[in-house]
Amino acid sequence: MNDVRPDAVIILAAGEGTRMKSTLPKVLHPIGGAPLLGHAMRAASGAGAGETVVVIRHQRERVAAFVEEFNAGVERPCKVADQDEVKGTGRAVECGLTELAEDLTGTVVVTMGDVPLLSAETISELTRVHTEAAAAVTVITSVLSDAKSYGRIVRDADGRVERIVEFKDATEAERGIREINSGIYAFDAAVLRRELANVTSDNTQGEKYLTDVLQLARATGGTVAAHVLSDLWQTEGVNDRVQLADLGKELNRRTCERHMRAGVTIVDPATTWIDVDVTIGADTTVLPGTQLVGATSIGAEATIGPDVTLTDCEVGDGAHVKRAEALLSVIGAGASVGPYSYLRPGTQVGAKGKIGGFVETKNTTIGPGAKVPHLTYAGDADIRAGANIGAGTIFANYDGVTKHRTVIGTHSFIGSNTVLVAPVEVADGAYVAAGSAITEAVGPGQLAVARGRQRNIDGWIAEQRSGTQTEAAAQAAAQPPSSDTHPSSEDTQ
Ligand code: UD1
Ligand code: CA
Repeated sequence: MNDVRPDAVIILAAGEGTRMKSTLPKVLHPIGGAPLLGHAMRAASGAGAGETVVVIRHQRERVAAFVEEFNAGVERPCKVADQDEVKGTGRAVECGLTELAEDLTGTVVVTMGDVPLLSAETISELTRVHTEAAAAVTVITSVLSDAKSYGRIVRDADGRVERIVEFKDATEAERGIREINSGIYAFDAAVLRRELANVTSDNTQGEKYLTDVLQLARATGGTVAAHVLSDLWQTEGVNDRVQLADLGKELNRRTCERHMRAGVTIVDPATTWIDVDVTIGADTTVLPGTQLVGATSIGAEATIGPDVTLTDCEVGDGAHVKRAEALLSVIGAGASVGPYSYLRPGTQVGAKGKIGGFVETKNTTIGPGAKVPHLTYAGDADIRAGANIGAGTIFANYDGVTKHRTVIGTHSFIGSNTVLVAPVEVADGAYVAAGSAITEAVGPGQLAVARGRQRNIDGWIAEQRSGTQTEAAAQAAAQPPSSDTHPSSEDTQ
């Protein structure tokens, strides 16, 4: 299997990308949760590239910073090469080679930083075809109905690849050719280094064309092969934001398909957006309008959606999450969240715990089986196993200067419309009466009542609201029921 690994991959990413009309470098625009360049780097690493070099120039600091960031998470770090003021894809590869050993042998694959759907498998396949043919160069080509301004593949009478002609340099007859250069190639390392030195800028654009290496290699007796790819998306590049959206959508379609083939039900892939790093267990169902973002992982047999956005969240087996927004939160096995819940960073729901409608949480742990079912703000709280938080409870965590924590003990019960003024602790096995404002600790086994005691003032309506319908109703209610008046039919129904 070793021979299907390229010895090096050079990723071209020095171009300016003016059609993006963006201050962000083109290759850093994201789809599927990673920048375009990130996808190219993943493909290279997935194909087991011995070394990977990213050639940069435009906004070099920002692009180099991304390469650094990417390197933090991988075994074999990618290198960066700076392209000088000499223009062209040939010059870019020449600059890339300066980061590789001078005596490098074997296969060098060249790809592009703005071509995000090229897969690791295709790089491996290209390398295999190239190695088996003992070719000097193998170029990935496609046959298009509209060949646009791509470079054209010129074949000889025997159907062998003779050269590539750029659209701007092509004759009318050559422009009629429908087989195009994808811009992705496998080269014999020694041939590449030798022939790049012979490439000139003698063309319409005054650039050093990488494509010229093909005819130079052939002239010195090398074999030039083509690997025709029918999956056109894989070699499609991003030049503007319309293509960015098209490729993003296609990437998402492929991601959804991968999960469905692995046993996940996705009811509507068209309205489900899943980033490339998301993991989902088998027999989980994803309902329409769901976005699974970043490093989110979902267990097996869970139900997610409709209308859920989870960013960097962990969801356990069998959990149900509907109409919710959650960020950097953990939702335990069999737990239930939603509808209309907002989980901010640091929320942890234990197994079979519950966060219900119109509940906002932050930095809060909800123990196994504990419930926060309705209309609550829980910030900086530890709600222990089996506790129940009544409707409308507010964890007042902020005194205007500092945040403080609240603890609710095991199997304790907080009555509706309570405000818990932090820092405060309700022990295990305690109750808080509805409508309380709790400012002091509640001990085990106690009921805390912290509200004004009720007073009923006799005769107040007659004195203060005489002549109103309320008074009439009070009088009628005060009268003893009379035996000879029959209730009207309205009253009995
Ligand atoms: C190139 C090919 C063309 C092919 C097309 C496929 C050449 C001469 N032409 O054309 O045959 O059909 O790709 O998309 O190679 N880049 C650099 N440094 C440079 C110039 C470009 O790094 O000096 C990078 C760009 O960032 C980009 C890639 O190379 O990722 C392709 O450059 P681009 O200018 O788009 O090449 P094309 O003219 O489209
Ligand atoms: Ca291009």
